Amino acid sequence: MLTKSQAKLFFLAGTIIFSLIFLALSYDTTVNQIDEITHGDQLSEEALKGRIIWDENNCMGCHTLLGEGAYYAPELTRVVERRGAGYIKGALMSKTPWGEHTSGRKMVAYGFSEEEANQLVAFFTWIGEIETNGFPAKPAYKVEKVDTELE
Ligand code: HEC
Repeated sequence: MLTKSQAKLFFLAGTIIFSLIFLALSYDTTVNQIDEITHGDQLSEEALKGRIIWDENNCMGCHTLLGEGAYYAPELTRVVERRGAGYIKGALMSKTPWGEHTSGRKMVAYGFSEEEANQLVAFFTWIGEIETNGFPAKPAYKVEKVDTELE
């Protein structure tokens, strides 16, 4: 059994040691690894223009990127991998509200030009290559057990 002062010392030492480890790891991530993780050096002019379109049109009012934004419309971090550039351009250049889900939610009909759509695709391509440690998780559609009782 620890005495009161030993417990105090144990608490203080533990807090200090783990705070230092936390700070060291945060420093390592922000100073040594961030460039590699985000590959900022590959951020092209085209992708930057896409980012401006993204901001100016408040796409985040409905969508999320890297989990940030609103949960009304699909997560777009890996949209290029998931949908391909052709589909994305179709949604962005459409003159009528785009939607294939039965929820009734539709993508705003921005009717972007091909150039603007390419800039947004370049931005999504860049975002899609950021190392996100597995985010977003792939949905597991596998049905484990079929419930026959309701039939
Ligand atoms: C008012 C809400 C809203 C806003 C604002 C909005 N979107 Fe959407 N968007 C949607 C909805 C809802 C869908 C899903 C449509 C469907 O497939 O049924 C969608 C679909 C998409 C898709 C296809 C994604 C997929 O996985 O199928 C892309 C790409 C996209 N939006 C990009 C954008 C961009 C870029 C902007 C800003 C310029 C934007 N959206 C602004 C609602 C919105």
